[in-house]
Amino acid sequence: MSTSSPPIVSAVRLRKCYGSQRVVDDISFNIERGEFCGMLGPNGAGKTTTLRMLVGNTPNSGGELTVLGRPIPADARAMRARIGIVPQADNLDPDFTVVENLRVYGRYFGLGRRAIDQRIPELLKLAALDDRAGFRINQLSGGMKRRLSIARALINRPELLILDEPTTGLDPQIRQNIWHLLRQLQQDGLTLILTTHYMDEAERLCGRIILMDHGRILADQTPQSLVRDHIEPHVLEVHGESVNAWRAAHPLNGPIRCEQLADTWYYYGANLEHLVKSLDGWNGLRYSYRAANLEDVFLKLTGRELRDG
Ligand SMILES: Nc1ncnc2c1ncn2[C@@H]1O[C@H](COP(=O)(O)OP(=O)(O)O)[C@@H](O)[C@H]1O
Ligand SMILES: [Mg+2]
Repeated sequence: MSTSSPPIVSAVRLRKCYGSQRVVDDISFNIERGEFCGMLGPNGAGKTTTLRMLVGNTPNSGGELTVLGRPIPADARAMRARIGIVPQADNLDPDFTVVENLRVYGRYFGLGRRAIDQRIPELLKLAALDDRAGFRINQLSGGMKRRLSIARALINRPELLILDEPTTGLDPQIRQNIWHLLRQLQQDGLTLILTTHYMDEAERLCGRIILMDHGRILADQTPQSLVRDHIEPHVLEVHGESVNAWRAAHPLNGPIRCEQLADTWYYYGANLEHLVKSLDGWNGLRYSYRAANLEDVFLKLTGRELRDG
């Protein structure tokens, strides 16, 4: 990473309090130009609040924040002209067509009609919406709306794109489709920050993961090094009606960590071959033996209790 250009985002002991609750608790991080950074964490971890401070939607209660070299919230207005925001819920105007939505948003940035109309064809192409220009929003599928929201956020040629759960609720094909679009944007030099609940999404897209919980940063590193540093290399998942009988017949030996989540037992270790072999000949067992992944790390570092908040 070049040390000559200033970071795109610099947060130093960034804090947000609601009443007596610190929902973002003195977190520090930099994001450099060209990075694709994923923010992960259970519901209520403080991800959206952090993004809202970054884009100047809510003031910080403490610490220092600069985005694109501008102090935030003081210079939020000037900063916002140079970033793109894709909010969690689509807020496209349903009464307008695809093109009209882009125009209205462009005017909001003070762009002239000509500049906007020159920009629109390339945005439609990027979002694969060339053949939908005149369609109304309610004639679009969920995936098309999402792609339009992303295209709209690009109208001002932002240097930083911030996406809050861009693929939540979308089917697998559409998610792949949006991943492709986001990767293209990164290749074009954009800096991206996204939040997601999908570990596979973070693992595929992001060169860096900031894992948050209770307003704090638990880990900040590449997806590969998260898996390498925080979890055993192999996982065996076992469930089924005979699982308790099998467990009783095969007490654990060696350095194997074991956890139960709902009806499934998880075994983590460097060498699980003998445990896998011991499943031979048992009826009523289902299992999966696999490499550890980001989801295993997430569950280990943030715990397995449900967060509905
Ligand atoms: N406007 C608000 N007023 C009071 N509490 C809030 C407000 N916004 C968020 N919170 C609280 O802050 C915490 C973090 O929320 P949020 O940043 O939305 O988490 P995440 O996006 O990681 O799910 C939660 O406990 C949430 O209830
Ligand atoms: Mg959120």
